Amino acid sequence: MVETAARKPIGIFDSGVGGLTVVKEVRKKLPQENIIYLGDTARVPYGTRSARTVQKYAISNTDFLLTQDIKLLVIACNTASAIAYETLKGAYGLPIIDVVGPGARAAVAASQTKRIGIIGTDGTILSGAYQKEILKLEPACSIVTRACPLFVPLAEAGWCDKNDEVALLTARRYLEPLMHSGIDTLVLGCTHYPILKDAIRAVMGPDIMLIDSAEETACDVRQMLDRQHILNDSTAPGTSTFFVTDIPHRFAETGSRFLGRELSDVSVVDIVQA
Ligand code: DGL
Repeated sequence: MVETAARKPIGIFDSGVGGLTVVKEVRKKLPQENIIYLGDTARVPYGTRSARTVQKYAISNTDFLLTQDIKLLVIACNTASAIAYETLKGAYGLPIIDVVGPGARAAVAASQTKRIGIIGTDGTILSGAYQKEILKLEPACSIVTRACPLFVPLAEAGWCDKNDEVALLTARRYLEPLMHSGIDTLVLGCTHYPILKDAIRAVMGPDIMLIDSAEETACDVRQMLDRQHILNDSTAPGTSTFFVTDIPHRFAETGSRFLGRELSDVSVVDIVQA
């Protein structure tokens, strides 16, 4: 019975391509695991919506992934993690990993000066979830925050290359106040933002540590599977299956560039209620 559960897939969701930053790390650390990914592209962005709406979306995404018989859920979206993690944990009986806790932990470990910047969607920044997690770990930290909502459509559109003028200009506009705030560490508190890492790095300069919670999240996934005795022990490489709620070709285009491999097998699923 334990072996059957171990062979089940891991379910991962985000509002769009952002969660692929987490898929990439989970794939790297757990190559034998099967992954089912859902990008809720019909309802992206989440970051500008109310808590009630984000919770509703998170529940319908989880319900869909449960129809795929997943053994563990990863909320690969900071907005949904910040706003809906407790709701999902209370409503479902399966192990759930979020991205805010791992990101906060990585930031506290990386910062020497304990002056940390956080960028994210309006929803994530307003929720105060990162601030709360960081201060729980290190009460002496001082925190500067900035919502950067336009980064999400830029990443979804694939305007994220190193020399993309729009990405650079947008990054400069959002990040300038942070450049002069004395931080030594900047949390990319949205899973879409690592897609724009080059532009963010170009503006912030080489000395600021950029924290992408994907790697730390993948470690949590491994630990949780291990603790529950449901690590996939197969020797065959795991499979990845991709679902979106709208316009698969755009997701495939941006996703392929980002993951560095062809994503030709993206299916549309109709989970969005009118
Ligand atoms: N990638 C998501 C996050 O980490 C959601 C962005 C959005 O849909 O606004 O917050």
